[in-house]
Amino acid sequence: MSGKFDRIIHESVTPVQCVDFYSNDPVSLDDHNALSNYKGPEEVVKALMEIEPKVENIARILDVCAGTGRLAKVLINNGFHNIDALDGSQMMLEEALRQGLYKNTVVSMIQPDLRLPIADDSYDVITASGTFAPGHLFSDCIPDLIRVLKPGGVMIFAMRTSYEKLSEQFGNFDSNILRDYESCQGMLAALARIMYNFDRDVVTDKLSPDECIKYYSKQPERYDEDVEASNYKGPEELARAIAEFSPAFDKNSRILDICAGTGRLAKQLKNFGFENIDALDGSEAMLKEAVSQGIYKNTFVSMIKSDGTLPIENDSYDLLTASGTFAPGHLYSDCIPVLLRVLKPGGMMIWAMREGYEKKSPQFEKFDPDIEALEQAGKAKLLGKKHIPLYLYEDGGFIYMLKKLSN
Ligand SMILES: C[S@@+](CC[C@H](N)C(=O)[O-])C[C@H]1O[C@@H](n2cnc3c(N)ncnc32)[C@H](O)[C@@H]1O
Repeated sequence: MSGKFDRIIHESVTPVQCVDFYSNDPVSLDDHNALSNYKGPEEVVKALMEIEPKVENIARILDVCAGTGRLAKVLINNGFHNIDALDGSQMMLEEALRQGLYKNTVVSMIQPDLRLPIADDSYDVITASGTFAPGHLFSDCIPDLIRVLKPGGVMIFAMRTSYEKLSEQFGNFDSNILRDYESCQGMLAALARIMYNFDRDVVTDKLSPDECIKYYSKQPERYDEDVEASNYKGPEELARAIAEFSPAFDKNSRILDICAGTGRLAKQLKNFGFENIDALDGSEAMLKEAVSQGIYKNTFVSMIKSDGTLPIENDSYDLLTASGTFAPGHLYSDCIPVLLRVLKPGGMMIWAMREGYEKKSPQFEKFDPDIEALEQAGKAKLLGKKHIPLYLYEDGGFIYMLKKLSN
C-alpha cells in the first residue's frame, strides 16, 4: 500500500482536500489499484448478482464516487449498461468518460449537509466501492443516497474491514447507521427496504402460495432479523388490542395463531397472560423456530387455500389471531371462510394488516367488500376496524375484529 494513498484515508482529511487529491492525479489511483489486489468492484457486482438475481440489465444504476470507472467496467462485463456516475471530481470522471463507461455523469460533492442534484426515486441500484472510508464518505451520507433510490431499490457497497482501527468514527459505522436511521423518521425503514427487498420479492401478487412458503422456509432464522430491522409492530399492536378486548377471553381461551411463523405474535400474547395457543403455518421450517422456543401447545403444518381445508375440527377455537398473514402473495380475503370454520360460533378472529395493499394488489380492493358479504350472509359481524399508526416500515395498519355468527 503506497504511503500516498494512506495519507488520504484519514479522518483529518476534509471532503474538499480529498477531492483535490484525486483530481490532481486521476491516473495514479488506477496504477495503485492495479498493484494493490483491489477487489472491491468485483465483489460489489458479485453481491449484486447474488442478492438480486432478478436485477435486469436495463436497471438504472448510480455508481457513487465512481472515479475512473473501475466498477462500471465490471458491471458492463456482466451485462449492465444503464449506469450513471456521481463523483466530486470532474477530473476523475473525465477518465471514465474517455472510455465511454457511463451514460450520464453528475459532478457533485457528497456531504451529509448537502442535497445531491438528483431527483427522488431515480435509481434501481446504487453501487459504491472505495467510497466509505476515513476522509471520504461516512454513513451520514447514506440518507440522501437512499432518497434518490427508488422504493424497493438496492444499495450495495464494499468497504474495507480495517477502517475501525484507523478511525474511531468507523468503529461505529454499522451502529451509527441504525442509530441515525432510528432518529430520522422512516429511514430505518428505508434501510431495511434496500437491504432486504422484502416488499418487492415477497409481498406481491406474483408469488404463488407455494413460492411464498418456499421463501420463508429457505431462511427462517433470517426472518426475525429482517423484521427486527423493518420496524414491524404488527404483533405487539395486535396483542395489545386483543388484551384490551380480553374481557371476552381468559388466559385459557383456545387460540389458533394463523400463519404463526416463528411465533412473534404468541410471544406478545404470552406477555398479556394468554397460555393456550396453537399455531398453524404452511412452513414447517418457520414453525420449527417457534417450537424450539416452546411457544405453542400444538402446531399444524398446513397450507391455507381458499379451496382447501384445515386439518382441524369445526368449532374448535375461541380466538383466531393473525399478523403478517393477509398480504399480497400470502392470504387473501377468500381464505376467511376456511378459517372461520374452525372457530366456535360467537368466537372472534382478530388480525393486524398493513394499510394500502389495495394499491398494490387488485385482489385487496375486494378485501373489505368480501367481509361485508360475509356479514350480509349472516356468517360474521365486523365489530371493529381500528387504525394503527405503525405496522411495518413507516406504514400504518388496521386491526380487524370479526365475530363468527354461524357456520
Ligand atoms: C410475514 S410471516 C408472519 C409470521 C408471524 N405471524 C409474524 O407476525 O411474525 C408470514 C407467514 O405466513 C406463512 N404463509 C404464507 N402463506 C401461507 C399459506 N397460504 N398457508 C399457510 N401459511 C402461509 C409463511 O410460511 C410465514 O410463516
